Amino acid sequence: MIRTRIRELLVTTPGQDLVQAAGWIRTRRDSKGGFSFLEINDGSCFANLQVIADQGLANYASDIRRLHPGASVRVQGRLMASAGAGQAVELHATEVQVLGFCDPESYPLGKQRIHFDRLRELAHLRARTNAFGAMARVRNVLADEIHRFFQARDFLYLHAPVITANDCEGAGAMFQVTTLDLARVPRTAMGAVDYDQDFFGRRASLTVSGQLEGETYACALGDIYTFGPTFRAENSNTRRHLAEFWMIEPEMAFADLQDDAALAEALLKHTFAAVLRRCPDDLAFFEQRLQPGLLARLERLATSTFRTITYTEAVELLTKANRTFEFAPQWGMDLQSEHERYLTEEVFQGPLTVINYPRAIKAFYMRRNDDERTVAAMDVLLPEVGEIIGGSQREERLEVLERAIRDRGLDPATYNWYLDLRRFGSVPHAGFGLGFERLVQFCTGLHNIRDAIPYPRAPRTCEY
Ligand code: 4AD
Ligand code: MG
Repeated sequence: MIRTRIRELLVTTPGQDLVQAAGWIRTRRDSKGGFSFLEINDGSCFANLQVIADQGLANYASDIRRLHPGASVRVQGRLMASAGAGQAVELHATEVQVLGFCDPESYPLGKQRIHFDRLRELAHLRARTNAFGAMARVRNVLADEIHRFFQARDFLYLHAPVITANDCEGAGAMFQVTTLDLARVPRTAMGAVDYDQDFFGRRASLTVSGQLEGETYACALGDIYTFGPTFRAENSNTRRHLAEFWMIEPEMAFADLQDDAALAEALLKHTFAAVLRRCPDDLAFFEQRLQPGLLARLERLATSTFRTITYTEAVELLTKANRTFEFAPQWGMDLQSEHERYLTEEVFQGPLTVINYPRAIKAFYMRRNDDERTVAAMDVLLPEVGEIIGGSQREERLEVLERAIRDRGLDPATYNWYLDLRRFGSVPHAGFGLGFERLVQFCTGLHNIRDAIPYPRAPRTCEY
């Protein structure tokens, strides 16, 4: 007999047929009446299945009474309507097979609640907790819904390379990929590292973004999106930054900044509505444990209209604000997280798209506006997490783009293939990057982004 997932058993009508469930013990309570209640969870849903194991079972004394949280079992029995509160059905066991015992003395996930900081050191076991089971299911649904959103709109899923020879953001925050012996790095006559002897015969890194490669496919196939891991070697130890995170990067040919902002808004609203529909139990847990108001907020945003302001207007609002920021707002300076939060949480009390940022603080590929001071950039800001999306219309004019690359001290030769898109049938196009873990963070209310990914990587953090 094959096991049925608990998610399915819980909505099955009670009957005489034998069914089988398998999972891990969350709790065992022994009743005076000569039977035990086993709460088992198999990860298929938030709820546990209640199992009634009677002393008449052959291994009741030898096995069942030795089951502690964490032990794994396979249970066969009949589903009955449950008299107890909290579940419609319970499984009356005809057979309980212990797959693996779990020693309560050494098992770190007992009944007591464990702080998120400690659980990060138990990342190999934390998926067995309510919080991380729920996070993993929400993450899965969000990923699925992102693909559904783009596929329904005929966007082509593109696999951008993970190892790359270009720096998309031009910020130099890249992890190098090398097979050189670090204890004996080969040098050129001039004393520089001789990358000619390296695996790729040149300097290579982990990608910070698949955008540039994405643009090459958009400028051939129309609309594409990537969804893959990206890497940033920034030394930022914040609750919003990871060194390895997943990014969704759509790119649309024949599109401008307005089209881009409209797509970003539609995507976010789609994911909010979908996660509310598909993960009610997991979200109810986060609402109750982490973030009161989470459900109402997601519901409101799923049908809201995002506000749009220019960067210049944002700075005006911040300068007029009746409060002191750690970083005094000033035109030309990037918006800090405290500024983003003030705008979204206090002024607009909802999502906000900020467009037309100063040229000097944005990447080389963004399209220069006619005012010469700003570029056609957009950031979508959300309450709590701040920037969740960064994007722009791309510079499609060859000379302007070449100048922008040189102005930033970058070498146009390394972007030669990218410049080819502007040499051969250049078209206006636009795209953005959505930080997947920030989306997970926002939908769950998890405070720290390190809890929104199974195995977080951050400065001095690479366990497992
Ligand atoms: O704003 P960013 O740096 O934009 C790009 O990489 C563009 N190439 C995207 C594009 O236009 N195709 O990053 C995009 C998003 C951010 O808004 C943020 O949500 C997320 O990626 N992000 C991070 N998430 C976690 N940890 C980090 N260190 C992140 N850096 C960016
Ligand atoms: Mg950004």
